[in-house]
Amino acid sequence: MTEASRADFAPPVTVALTGASGAQYGLRLIDCLVAANHEVWVMISKAAHLVIDTETDCRLPAQPQRLTEALSERSGARAGQIRCFARADWMAPVASGSGAPSSMVICPCSTGTLSAVATGASNNLIERAADVALKERRQLILVPREAPLSAIHLEHMLALTRMGAVILPAAPGFYHRPASVDDMIDFIVARILNQLGVEHALLPRWGERE
Ligand SMILES: Cc1cc2nc3c(=O)[nH]c(=O)nc-3n(C[C@H](O)[C@H](O)[C@H](O)COP(=O)(O)O)c2cc1C
Repeated sequence: MTEASRADFAPPVTVALTGASGAQYGLRLIDCLVAANHEVWVMISKAAHLVIDTETDCRLPAQPQRLTEALSERSGARAGQIRCFARADWMAPVASGSGAPSSMVICPCSTGTLSAVATGASNNLIERAADVALKERRQLILVPREAPLSAIHLEHMLALTRMGAVILPAAPGFYHRPASVDDMIDFIVARILNQLGVEHALLPRWGERE
């Protein structure tokens, strides 16, 4: 990694991975934001670590500094480009409207975290950061993955949509004829990047020739 100052980076985006299936969406999103030169502030829930271990070959430490180093090495981030925060680090900038970035993505988003955000629980830093995004009217994107959906899940999604959050289900389309799992991951990550206004070349936009 080379040294870089904050001014070298595009604005920070908060990315939280929670314990829904689809850890690769969140990891790929971090890689793409790093490639687009954004600063990325990361939180990974306990259950998300378990899902990452189950679904990927990626082994990530829980301790924030070691996690920062591991994610930076994985994505080729420059020094200071990725910052990771612990579950109860209430002193982290994401815990306050004065310090939180203008965009936050929870990807993947468990139904547990979905419910906590919809009801304002704020019992851990991910939930608190999402609560801050809502109260400050900042961009909040949730990428839930569950099937089937109960009335509780649907009601929470509707409540969050009405509060201004974007519900972007991890439901890849097939009209680009994905040839691999990576193509299906990129389908969802491209949708998230579109929402964030981050340029990418993961997929052609509809109406553009391939
Ligand atoms: C391998 C694995 C897959 C899981 N898949 C899902 C899922 O797709 N959706 C979901 O809402 N919860 C899923 N869970 C359950 C959540 O991890 C669990 O409800 C947890 O409490 C969520 O905590 P968090 O929101 O703090 O990450 C899964 C758990 C494991 C271990």
